[in-house]
Amino acid sequence: MTDSSPSSLRSLIYDPSGPSLKVLDQLKVPAEKAYIDVTDIQTAWSVIRNMQIRGAPLIAIVASLGLAVDLVSPASTMDLDSMISMHGDRHGPVILSYIQGKIDYLETSRPTAVNLFNALSELRQALLHAHDETSTTKTSTDSPRERMVQAVMKHAEFMLERDMKDCQRIGQHGADEILRDAVNKVTILTICNTGALACSAYGTALGVVRAVRERGQLKSIIALETRPYNQGSRLTAFEIVEEDMPGGILICDSMAAALMKKGGVDAVVVGADRVCANGDTANKIGTYSLALVAAAHDVPVYVAAPFTTLDVSLTHGDQIVIEERPGDELISTSQAPSSIAVWNPAFDVTPARYLAGIITEKGVIRPTVDGVMDVASFVARHQ
Ligand code: MRU
Repeated sequence: MTDSSPSSLRSLIYDPSGPSLKVLDQLKVPAEKAYIDVTDIQTAWSVIRNMQIRGAPLIAIVASLGLAVDLVSPASTMDLDSMISMHGDRHGPVILSYIQGKIDYLETSRPTAVNLFNALSELRQALLHAHDETSTTKTSTDSPRERMVQAVMKHAEFMLERDMKDCQRIGQHGADEILRDAVNKVTILTICNTGALACSAYGTALGVVRAVRERGQLKSIIALETRPYNQGSRLTAFEIVEEDMPGGILICDSMAAALMKKGGVDAVVVGADRVCANGDTANKIGTYSLALVAAAHDVPVYVAAPFTTLDVSLTHGDQIVIEERPGDELISTSQAPSSIAVWNPAFDVTPARYLAGIITEKGVIRPTVDGVMDVASFVARHQ
């Protein structure tokens, strides 16, 4: 599968022949399009933690590909060589726990987006499977090290491809949903960045906007600035401008109510970092207040997210761990005195009752007649 995004919208550049990985430094966009070489898991961890890359699907992909490139880096190669020389034929379990330690470390990068944990859990499974295969076979081609490293690499590459395909499908399902009863072209409002820069390509909520546009039905896309980190003004506005999307408009977060009161917003479409069994959804801080404003003006709110964002191990939104970021991220992006105390949660939880649907690549979850959003049954049916 090829990524047809304009080169300016490439969130990452992965070359499987190296392998090598470069990620776009999103803290420098739009002023500069600079790529960071990710050659080890320390760099993968820090680009995620420092928000040089961000967005739930992209965090998962960068962690996974970051592990793949790390395992063939000079430092890991030296570690693995020395484990083999110390443990000889019995090196399988030692290498297994060495790679598992790296996965544990990547899990500490950011807490809220479940995609990271799901991707790392898939890599653990692939790794264990490769390890178990090696312990039951004895030929020279069955080096435990080779099999485990290859298993991680192949699965990380598989997840990269899957993310691209899933975003396209989310876009199609979302466009079907939003255009179903539309008689005219539609105006969509969104928060944060959920586009090509938040995924490996195309995007989730902004992918829906792209799909609506591809069908010739997009009148206007309105992006909220998204305080305090400005993902809307820095990244979504950039994507809108780069692709010359029709009716692209940037507004401050506090302008959403006034705009909806004027009329003309057909739908709000947002991404997600974690969706619980009852449909409660964690997304960028400000999404909850946007949903309240939309409810007051009868504007439907859709969440667009891959299946890997659904976390049915949590029954409701109060169980989601909400990341709190350093206060400086708010101070340095405002004109506040540096000594003021700050509360800076990166996400909030929108109760499911404010959602008209959750759009995934496997279909749309809609509330039942009783207003229940049964994510758990949807997951059970599609797993
Ligand atoms: O803190 P961020 O920038 O990683 O938060 C991103 C969001 O909340 C996105 O809306 C969400 O991850 C969906 S990205 C397709």
